Amino acid sequence: MRELKILAVVVFFALLTYYGVEPYAHSVMHKDVEGYNFTYDGTADIQEATEALEEAQASGRNVAKAQARLEVKKAFWSEVDKIAKIPGNVANGQAVFGTCLACHNGAGVNMGGVIPPNLDHAGALYDKRYLIAVIKDPAMASNVDHKYENTMMHPMGSVTAMVSDPQQIADVVAYMLAKKAGDVTPKAAYEEACARCHAMRYSKITQLGETPSFTDEKDELAYKIKVLQEQELVEAYMGKLPPDLSMIIRARSTHFLETFVENPQSQLEGTSMPRVGLSQAGYDKVHEYLTEIGDPSKKHREALGPWVIGFFVIFSILAYLWKKHHWRDLH
Ligand code: HEC
Ligand code: HEC
Repeated sequence: MRELKILAVVVFFALLTYYGVEPYAHSVMHKDVEGYNFTYDGTADIQEATEALEEAQASGRNVAKAQARLEVKKAFWSEVDKIAKIPGNVANGQAVFGTCLACHNGAGVNMGGVIPPNLDHAGALYDKRYLIAVIKDPAMASNVDHKYENTMMHPMGSVTAMVSDPQQIADVVAYMLAKKAGDVTPKAAYEEACARCHAMRYSKITQLGETPSFTDEKDELAYKIKVLQEQELVEAYMGKLPPDLSMIIRARSTHFLETFVENPQSQLEGTSMPRVGLSQAGYDKVHEYLTEIGDPSKKHREALGPWVIGFFVIFSILAYLWKKHHWRDLH
């Protein structure tokens, strides 16, 4: 009986630490950031701008500027909402998409800081409203407008002048959702959404894409130099080189990663990482890839878990019976 009591005490404290102390410590050290299920309708941005205005009012400084920013955010997202309700024409959208291909052409040429990503699966990766927003005003869409006095300065900013008619925007988004979706592998999702900024050395991905294999060492060195040059441009654009994401899945919690990718500003105010606009399905693919590379044995480990626990249960019963058997005559 005494053993059972000791066991109960041990179990009690283990559970208390696991469900009580650890989550509590976590909530004290990390602020609680709410997610929006990877939908982008401006709620988060308007909330941020409202809080900024309240802070400005409290301190009595920059009130007019904060007020103006809130109005701009509200107007922007309500415009996006209107365009989202316009039925798009896929055939007309294909013609508009030609404008996008001027930059998103797979040529691997850096434009103002990064290589424009391949849009082959844009319809499957990005949220519809985000796509509308990014064409209307890329800096606003990715919540880095505070870095740009004028949207035209953003590397994709000139799109605002090229595709400005709401119907055209609705058409090209309809086209992407219909024709640039399809099955996307976790790897392609990572390459299209993150790799222009984040290398992943465990899977030989750099800002130039997947590293080819070389037979000649000179070619290999020449390629390495190209990677370093590309990284310099990304660094100049972002202010720092975005970290390699090979092991990020182990360093950060699922909730942190989700809310960070959904809206980097929410976790790291003032960060230069732009919002990327993934939908839930798109993010799930990226997450799958981060797990595949950073924690490849996860599936195996999880499958093994119940067996290990089962083994301990059976072993404990046997040990208990064995002990009873031996002590039987001593009482
Ligand atoms: C002037 C060149 C240019 C044009 C034209 C252009 N883009 Fe881009 N686009 C870029 C660059 C550069 C980026 C990467 C920006 C960054 O990562 O900061 C980008 C990023 C994107 C992204 C990823 C957005 C994100 O926040 O993750 C999408 C989606 C996109 N563009 C769609 C389009 C569509 C649709 C069109 C046509 C209507 C278009 N682009 C036209 C240069 C361009
Ligand atoms: C346009 C460039 C860009 C793109 C695209 C981008 N990131 Fe980032 N990311 C950054 C930069 C810059 C930082 C460093 C932020 C800082 O320290 O302020 C960063 C930091 C991060 C961090 C680290 C946060 C931490 O814990 O310190 C994570 C995680 C991350 N990015 C995930 C992603 C994922 C996943 C994607 C693709 C869905 C992605 N990023 C796309 C630029 C980018």
